[in-house]
Amino acid sequence: MKTYSIAVLPGDGIGPEVIAEAERTLEAVGERFGLDFTLPRFAIGAAGVAVAGDPFPADTRAAVARADAVLLGAVGDPSLDQAPRHLKPESGLLALRAQLGVYANLRPVTVFPALVNRSPLKADRLEGVDVLIVRELTGGLYYGEPRGREGASAVNTLRYSAAEIKRVARVAFESARQRRRHVTSVDKANVLEVSQLWRETVTRVGQDYPDVRLDHLYVDTAAMRLVADPRAFDVLLTENMFGDILSDEAAVLVGSLGLLPSASLGEGPGLFEPIHGSAPDIAGGDVANPIGAIATVALLLRHGLGLAEPAAAVERAISSALEQGARTRDIAEPAAPALGTRAMGLRIAGLIAEAQRSGAPVTM
Ligand code: IPM
Ligand code: MN
Repeated sequence: MKTYSIAVLPGDGIGPEVIAEAERTLEAVGERFGLDFTLPRFAIGAAGVAVAGDPFPADTRAAVARADAVLLGAVGDPSLDQAPRHLKPESGLLALRAQLGVYANLRPVTVFPALVNRSPLKADRLEGVDVLIVRELTGGLYYGEPRGREGASAVNTLRYSAAEIKRVARVAFESARQRRRHVTSVDKANVLEVSQLWRETVTRVGQDYPDVRLDHLYVDTAAMRLVADPRAFDVLLTENMFGDILSDEAAVLVGSLGLLPSASLGEGPGLFEPIHGSAPDIAGGDVANPIGAIATVALLLRHGLGLAEPAAAVERAISSALEQGARTRDIAEPAAPALGTRAMGLRIAGLIAEAQRSGAPVTM
């Protein structure tokens, strides 16, 4: 039996609770498909500061480099809001992304038919929405130097090289080939030189993909179009900061930030994390939605380990649970009963196991 080693970084807030359900999912997948996962845990974020005085401790740093994939919960803790930058939980996450070199962040946004009424947007706009956001993750304003405070002013630097743009653009075009063959590149080329380089470079890469339709939108227009006509998007390619903002906006389409997974890919092991944050206000209350973390397991299996069938089985179990009416508080009708984090995780793990007992075919 092949053994996969997955470095598990639960992190802060609701991270540990949702990651416990992601681990339960991996165990169910292991049993059903005859796979063996070892799941060593390491600290990151405020948890890293607590145990090692560092949001990305040395043993975490070493462990992620030798893992087959990295599974992360969430980082962030209000008690460190005023801490110096090197002690902020977010700095640990950014250092992790940089060390792994995971420059392409995939954020699939698919509306579950069972939940069309949970979005504040009109249901007729949402049916069939299926967008893949490809966010550049290791460059741009998040990493640009110089940066810092200078008395009464402050500076951050937006810089991209053509090489950085090219490699993430390729991921977008390759992904589009597996989908509806349409890339929308988002920039601010009417104002920013960096965006002009972005647009030129993406256009050049696009010439290698004549079968994929490419168009360009300014980020303000894209923000509007994303809620006004979300079906207009297939693959949305953009830089780090715009992608951060647009992916939270896209979560509104699905009804809850708690539902969405992400995969961050580079040359080495991939990093897999739900897109939600640490939600300290509800941490420890067994109310967080574990579906984002469980859907992240599906991406880890597919993109991190090349296990397409187990990935599809996890996604089918999530859809079935929702179709059967399973709801955590964030996606329940007002005043309707809701499952806790653990109960939702158990339900989905049960559905993965049940498909095996009933002899359901394991292929899609
Ligand atoms: C995300 C988060 C992070 C980001 C924060 C926690 C640094 O918002 O993954 O979208 O901005 O990238
Ligand atoms: Mn974000």
